[in-house]
Amino acid sequence: MKITLTLAMFFISILTFLSLPTPSLSLSKPCNKNDEKVLFQIKNSLGNPYHLASWQPTLDCCKWYCVKCNKTTGRIIELTIFSGNISGQIPPEVGNLPYLQTLEFHKLTNLTGQIPSTITKLTHLTQLRLSWTNLSGPVPSFISQLTNLNSLDLSFNSLTGSIPPELAKLTKLYAIGLDRNKLTGTIPESFGMFKGSVPDLYLSHNQLTGDIPKSLGYLNFSRIDVSRNQLTGDFSMFFGRNKTIQIADFSRNRFWFDLSKVEFPTSLTYLDMNHNKVYGSLPASLTGLSLQGLNVSYNSLCGKIPQGGDLQKFDHSTYFHNRCLCGSPFWACAN
Ligand SMILES: *[C@@H]1O[C@H](CO)[C@@H](O)[C@H](O)[C@H]1NC(C)=O
Ligand SMILES: *[C@@H]1O[C@H](CO)[C@@H](O)[C@H](O)[C@H]1NC(C)=O
Ligand SMILES: *[C@@H]1O[C@H](CO)[C@@H](O)[C@H](O)[C@H]1NC(C)=O
Ligand SMILES: *[C@@H]1O[C@H](CO)[C@@H](O)[C@H](O)[C@H]1NC(C)=O
Ligand SMILES: *[C@@H]1O[C@H](CO)[C@@H](O)[C@H](O)[C@H]1NC(C)=O
Ligand SMILES: *[C@@H]1O[C@H](CO)[C@@H](O)[C@H](O)[C@H]1NC(C)=O
Ligand SMILES: *[C@@H]1O[C@H](CO)[C@@H](O)[C@H](O)[C@H]1NC(C)=O
Repeated sequence: MKITLTLAMFFISILTFLSLPTPSLSLSKPCNKNDEKVLFQIKNSLGNPYHLASWQPTLDCCKWYCVKCNKTTGRIIELTIFSGNISGQIPPEVGNLPYLQTLEFHKLTNLTGQIPSTITKLTHLTQLRLSWTNLSGPVPSFISQLTNLNSLDLSFNSLTGSIPPELAKLTKLYAIGLDRNKLTGTIPESFGMFKGSVPDLYLSHNQLTGDIPKSLGYLNFSRIDVSRNQLTGDFSMFFGRNKTIQIADFSRNRFWFDLSKVEFPTSLTYLDMNHNKVYGSLPASLTGLSLQGLNVSYNSLCGKIPQGGDLQKFDHSTYFHNRCLCGSPFWACAN
């Protein structure tokens, strides 16, 4: 949950940044007539909801609620519809706003249907957020055609099917949020082959299975949350002396491997791996970290908790329900 909130804050800060008033030295250009026409089609397609009541021909469409124009061109660059009483499907006409950079439908529980393929026409799109809606169908592979995407948030929907490997073609992605859906299948091998920026991965609360591909160890991920899936095998590829991972949540899966030899990098500040089947002992490299959070509970770990660093500042619930962990702050070891 902590990590989901962080992603939300990432989007909020980007949106706040984009909506800061810019000093206008000259008169703003009026709204482009084609864009206005398309917005009226979108409004109509959504059943003329009260939420879009300001979308009136008497008002320049750059001043409408939920949209933002480029002041020099009068073209619509943002469409952000959220928290309204809106039902129906995402209007395919959104694909006819050719200068759109941000497209957001958020917290609209009555928005249903699939993600329309017309969005592939939006070649300038950098932010795509369709979240907390009731979208169904797959995570479409055609999203990989949106080569300028910085962030993709499809969280809190009812999306099914597997994660399309083609997403790894996106070279500018900072974050992928597919958490809280009904996704199945494995994490694609291609996610170890992002060229350009390495995105934060938020894949929690799905039904993903299989081992995390070893290929993900080729990259330096910063944040990863795969909690609450049915993943198996080993997650140690994210660690190692020369890695830069900071936040990692592997909790509530079926990981099963020996933790004893894992070298945690000093960049790591948060590690949650509760409810798995990890065995072996806690490695001494944990004492070298500045940890804000640690949870290794409900595994099959054994042996003495290394003494030092931040390991004693956590309470016993960080360590409980293991096979035979002992030592401060937990039970004393029986020699
Ligand atoms: C607005 O359009 C102008 C001209 O195409 C471009 O130089 C500028 O970067 C755009 N501004 C934004 C905020 O997109
Ligand atoms: C969703 O639609 C139902 C049925 O029309 C309505 O009762 C409900 O208020 C709507 N909810 C929201 C949040 O728009
Ligand atoms: C949403 O709109 C529907 C139909 O217009 C209405 O019946 C319902 O009460 C509204 N719900 C909310 C939460 O405003
Ligand atoms: C939307 O999703 C919520 C939670 O998954 C569900 O309770 C609700 O019935 C759905 N609404 C529609 C209109 O499908
Ligand atoms: C990860 O980052 C570290 C530190 O910047 C660097 O030494 C290492 O080579 C990087 N590894 C990869 C796979 O990029
Ligand atoms: C980590 O460093 C070792 C030795 O410096 C190097 O052989 C290895 O390729 C590096 N691994 C990564 C993932 O950067
Ligand atoms: C660790 O996780 C377990 C299981 O979810 C939970 O009961 C416990 O409170 C957590 N402890 C800490 C310190 O996060």
